[in-house]
Amino acid sequence: MFSEENIKKLLSSVTYPEFQKDIVTFGFVKKIEIDKNRVVVEIEIPSSNPKIALKIKEDASEVLKNSGIESEITIYQPKEPEIKSNSKSGKNIAPNIKNFVMISSGKGGVGKSTTTVNLALALVEQGKKVGILDADIYGPNIPRMLGITDQKPEVEEGRLKPLRVYGLEMMSMGILVNEGQSLIWRGAMIMKAIEQLLGDVLWSDLDVLFIDMPPGTGDAQLTLAQSVPITCGVCVTTPQAVALDDAKRSLDMFEKLHISIAGIVENMSGFICSSCGKEYDIFGRKSGIELAKRYNTSVLAEIPLEPAIREGGDSGKPVLIFHSDTISAKNYKKAGLALWQKIESFSGDNSAIQPVSSKASCGAN
Ligand SMILES: Nc1ncnc2c1ncn2[C@@H]1O[C@H](COP(=O)(O)OP(=O)(O)O)[C@@H](O)[C@H]1O
Ligand SMILES: [Mg+2]
Repeated sequence: MFSEENIKKLLSSVTYPEFQKDIVTFGFVKKIEIDKNRVVVEIEIPSSNPKIALKIKEDASEVLKNSGIESEITIYQPKEPEIKSNSKSGKNIAPNIKNFVMISSGKGGVGKSTTTVNLALALVEQGKKVGILDADIYGPNIPRMLGITDQKPEVEEGRLKPLRVYGLEMMSMGILVNEGQSLIWRGAMIMKAIEQLLGDVLWSDLDVLFIDMPPGTGDAQLTLAQSVPITCGVCVTTPQAVALDDAKRSLDMFEKLHISIAGIVENMSGFICSSCGKEYDIFGRKSGIELAKRYNTSVLAEIPLEPAIREGGDSGKPVLIFHSDTISAKNYKKAGLALWQKIESFSGDNSAIQPVSSKASCGAN
């Protein structure tokens, strides 16, 4: 005889394709029913890709078979979205937010947070209701960039009120833990933290929530794509080849998670000497265009290296507001317009988001 625990243990050797974790740890195994010598398993996955469903089904039945257990496995997955963007599990734990934009990069230090802050402010300037969720739990630096490191959020009926600054709403792990205090994040904690920053925060009815992701392509990205319908993703990169390899990984991740790509921000793209006005290509330039072509998207902005950006970041005075005459600020504003058009075209009619109940059983049953 075998128990539900035995079955779970066996299934925890089945990794989710292209990720490092198994289907049990991800919480995708929804039901295990034991009927004498036979076990009925139901698995629900966030991807609508039939190949992924088939692979999981095959792997799961194999591990059970190898232990002499006959199984009937059903995989549930979201229907292939009609509009590519509107994701994924159909779940939305922050339903009063209309659009979610994921800002990602393959590695740290390329200007992901700087881009998040300035694009968000560009949309505020357009009259949109905008929030920033600083989901970079490893290096939450949005509070510093907005100059609100010493503020603590109020609690209302057990939920946190986001902080308000420069016409934005903002929530970050950086204001919930003390500065300098580092947390060691493990998979399940990352998922919980991100779910709480979305679902347990009293976000207003926002037009768009920008999400500053941790660098890389791991658990946080998958958790987010499972928790809310991501409208689109923006990839931030610098022009050097190494950063571009990382950028490819982050663009591949968007594709894997069926997230529409709004575009690429090529940051630190050239340096304009403030005394002679001459332009220097320190890290090279224009490599974003090639990358954009490959992924059938566009370059939203090329942002030069400008001292005002770093100073603005360190002092909590974003360049878009405090140095609005710089090339960077102008390019961020243009990028903001282009981004909003993409958001509108991707989100279309928001009713296209599929409720969980419309889940379809994959053809691999
Ligand atoms: N275009 C730029 N010109 C000058 N400094 C920049 C530029 N982009 C980013 N920086 C600075 O580089 C550092 C890293 O940027 P940040 O946005 O924190 O990167 P990430 O979030 O990807 O780790 C910060 O000090 C920031 O102010
Ligand atoms: Mg950052």
